[in-house]
Amino acid sequence: MQAWKDYQEKNKDRFLNELIALLRIPSVSARSEHKPDMLACAEAVKDALIRAGVDKTEIFATEGHPIVYGEKIIDPKKPTVLVYGHYDVQPPDPLELWHSGPFDPVIQDGKVYARGSADDKGQVFMHIAAFQTMVQTNTLTCNVKFIIEGEEEIGSPNLGKFVKGHTDLLHADVILISDTSMLSLETPSIDVGLRGLSYIEVEVTGPNRDLHSGVYGGAVANPITILAQMIASLHDSNNHITIPGFYKDVQELSKEERAELAKAPFNEQEYKKDLGIKELWGEAGYSTNERTGIRPTLEVNGIWGGYTGEGAKTVLPSKAYAKISCRLVPNQTSASITELVINHLKKIAPSYVSVEAHEHHGGDPYVTPIDSIPFKAASKAMETTFGKVPIPMRGGGSIPITALFEKSLGVKVVMLGFGLDSDNLHSPNEKYDLANFYKGIETIPYFHKYFAEMHGKG
Ligand code: BES
Ligand code: MN
Ligand code: MN
Repeated sequence: MQAWKDYQEKNKDRFLNELIALLRIPSVSARSEHKPDMLACAEAVKDALIRAGVDKTEIFATEGHPIVYGEKIIDPKKPTVLVYGHYDVQPPDPLELWHSGPFDPVIQDGKVYARGSADDKGQVFMHIAAFQTMVQTNTLTCNVKFIIEGEEEIGSPNLGKFVKGHTDLLHADVILISDTSMLSLETPSIDVGLRGLSYIEVEVTGPNRDLHSGVYGGAVANPITILAQMIASLHDSNNHITIPGFYKDVQELSKEERAELAKAPFNEQEYKKDLGIKELWGEAGYSTNERTGIRPTLEVNGIWGGYTGEGAKTVLPSKAYAKISCRLVPNQTSASITELVINHLKKIAPSYVSVEAHEHHGGDPYVTPIDSIPFKAASKAMETTFGKVPIPMRGGGSIPITALFEKSLGVKVVMLGFGLDSDNLHSPNEKYDLANFYKGIETIPYFHKYFAEMHGKG
C-alpha cells in the first residue's frame, strides 16, 4: 500500500525518536527500586497509544506493576486484533560489559543499543507505529486492542488474574504478539511454538550452623556437595532427564513434522563459533533445533552457598541453594512438572540433609497451528513485505501468558516477531536493528488487512 509506505517514510525519524524516549526509562520489573520507573513507563506507553489514535485507554493497577490498555473500535462487526507486549525489561547487569549505558540508547551501524530495544519495547512500538499508520491513512480493517504489561520478565504473576477478570474488555478474534525472533531479514520465519516454564528454587540444609571445615570436615555431609550430586543425577549419559515421568506427556512429533521443521537452515560451525564453544551438547537423538524447540529441558540457572567473598574461608556450610528451571513442550503442564521436580528432589535427598523446594513462576507451552487463519495471515503479511514465504519454527523461549490467553479468551495467539537471536536479549549490549524495526512497522498493517479478509472464511 503506497499510502502506508508514504506515511511511514515521512514519520521514520519520529518513530525512532519516540522509541528512544521509551528506552530511556529504566523499567526493570525485578527491582523494587524501579517501581516509580515502572509507572512512568506505563504512562509513557499510554501517551504513545493516545498519540497513535486509540479512543479509549486506561492504566490498570495490579498487586505488582501496572497494565496498560488501549483500544480503537471502528465497527463492532469487524474482527478485533488484541496486541500483547511488555514494557518491562530484564535487569541490565553486568553493567561493566555494556559499551554504552543500558538506558542511554545509542545508534550505531543501523542498530539501536539499549536494554529493551528488542525485548520488547522496540517490538511493542512497531505496533503503535503501524496502528498510527492505519489510523492516519484511514485504512484500519480491524478493531484494535492493546494490552501492554509490566511483569512479563518476572513471569506475569498478576496478568492471569487480570485476563480472567476482564474477558469482555479483552474479547478479540486473535492475539498478536511481537516478542520473538526470526532467522534473518533474508530468511524470514515465524515462531509457531513457545516452550512453557517451571521455575523452582531448592534449599539444602546440612548441619544447623556453618562449621569449621577442619574440625568437622570429613564427618558431616557438605550440603553443597550433596546438592551438586543431586543436580548431576538429573541427566543421564544421553543427556536425557532422569526424573521418572518427566517425558510422560511430551508430544512426540511424527517423522513428517520433524522433516518439516528440519527445513529451517542451521549452520553448526557458525553457531559454535558465535558462542565460543568446541562441541554442542544435548539430548541424544535430536538435532539442535529440536533440542531447543520440541524437547523439554532442565537447566540449573544458579547455584550458591558457603563462602564466595574475597579471599578464602574454611567453612563447611550449613546450606546450599540452586535455582532450577525446566522448559516445557506440548502437552506438559507447568503445574504438574513443578510438582514432579519438587517431589523428585525431596525423594533423592540423602538422609544427611533436608531439602526444601518452592515454585517461582511458570507458564504452559503454546503452539499456533499452521493451518489456522492467524498463522496464514501472519505468513502472508511477511511474504508480502519480505518477498519470501516465512519458515515456521519452534522457539525455545517462553511467554508465560500465551497459553492462558487462548484458554481464557478462546482465540489463537500468533507470534509475529522481528528480533534476531543475536540481539543479546537479557545480555549486555542488547540491540535492535532499525531495518527489523521498520520492516515490522511495514508488515503489521498487512497482518490486519489479511486477517480481516480471511476472518470467518476458514
Ligand atoms: N521475549 C522473550 C521470550 C522469547 C525470546 C521467545 C526469544 C522466543 C524468542 C521473553 O521476554 C522472555 O524472556 N521470557 C522469559 C520467561 C519469563 C518467565 C522470565 C524466558 O523465556 O526466559
Ligand atoms: Mn519479551
Ligand atoms: Mn525477555
